[in-house]
Amino acid sequence: MKTNTKIIAIASGKGGVGKSTVSSNLAISLSKSGSRVGLLDADIYGPSIPRIFGVSGQSVTSRDGKSFEPIESNGIQLMSIGFVQTNNDAMIWRGPMLSQAINQLLFQTNWNDLEYLIIDLPPGTGDAQLTISQKANLTGTILVTTPQNISLIDVEKSLIAFRKLDIEVLGLIENMSYFTDDSGKDHHIFGKGNIDDFSEKHGVELISNLPILPDLTKYSDNGTLFDEFENLSVLNKKYEEITDYLKTRISKIDKTDSLDTIPVVTE
Ligand SMILES: Nc1ncnc2c1ncn2[C@@H]1O[C@H](COP(=O)(O)OP(=O)(O)OP(=O)(O)O)[C@@H](O)[C@H]1O
Ligand SMILES: [Mg+2]
Repeated sequence: MKTNTKIIAIASGKGGVGKSTVSSNLAISLSKSGSRVGLLDADIYGPSIPRIFGVSGQSVTSRDGKSFEPIESNGIQLMSIGFVQTNNDAMIWRGPMLSQAINQLLFQTNWNDLEYLIIDLPPGTGDAQLTISQKANLTGTILVTTPQNISLIDVEKSLIAFRKLDIEVLGLIENMSYFTDDSGKDHHIFGKGNIDDFSEKHGVELISNLPILPDLTKYSDNGTLFDEFENLSVLNKKYEEITDYLKTRISKIDKTDSLDTIPVVTE
């Protein structure tokens, strides 16, 4: 295991703003740029990574009876509670159990020589999110918001919580910012929001504004996002910019990852 994997968590305050979508696109974009990428679905309540990558229903295997082999999809190493428990029963996880489940997915997976590990965090700023963020010794976090103030208010809470823990906030992504019609005109369906003020107020970079792309929903739902990524040219270009930004930004951060230094809970 390499010890300089860059670990980036995708977080938000609110649910449904596009964390899983951003995590997946970022992993795909990094992978297509030639990097070795892993994607951890830390959303124990509503894992969506298996579906987005068209591998739902698959189960993890273990070679040594102690650790999981990640499920590989198009060269991207995936891990999700969805691969461990493949029936559809809603699972009820409470605080410590939740943190422990995420912990196990993170540290008991045989990640193979990763340059980047993207973590799709569950929504909110509860203990589970913060515990895992600390344990993983994150390189940093990216906060996803939508233009609505109600989302920004929650993102602000996340930002403050991460900074209290000395976790680097690498930047903001405003998702579902606008919709471009067939004539090329942009419509700010959810309003323009105050993201620029927010970015200035907190000294945090607005990395990107991403458009509403109905096809993105379609491809995420039917598990073809990786294959269709190149056809979504606007998105493609946006993510090239995002990955360029990230690579430059985190090349300046010197942090040893903790992927194989944390004691693993085996019972
Ligand atoms: N830019 C976009 N354009 C169109 N649809 C999008 C976009 N971003 C996300 N979606 C769609 O919005 C829905 C919610 O996105 P997603 O599941 O990524 O959010 P989330 O923050 O991970 O949600 P949760 O908090 O439930 O985990 C999905 O159906 C997704 O396909
Ligand atoms: Mg999600």
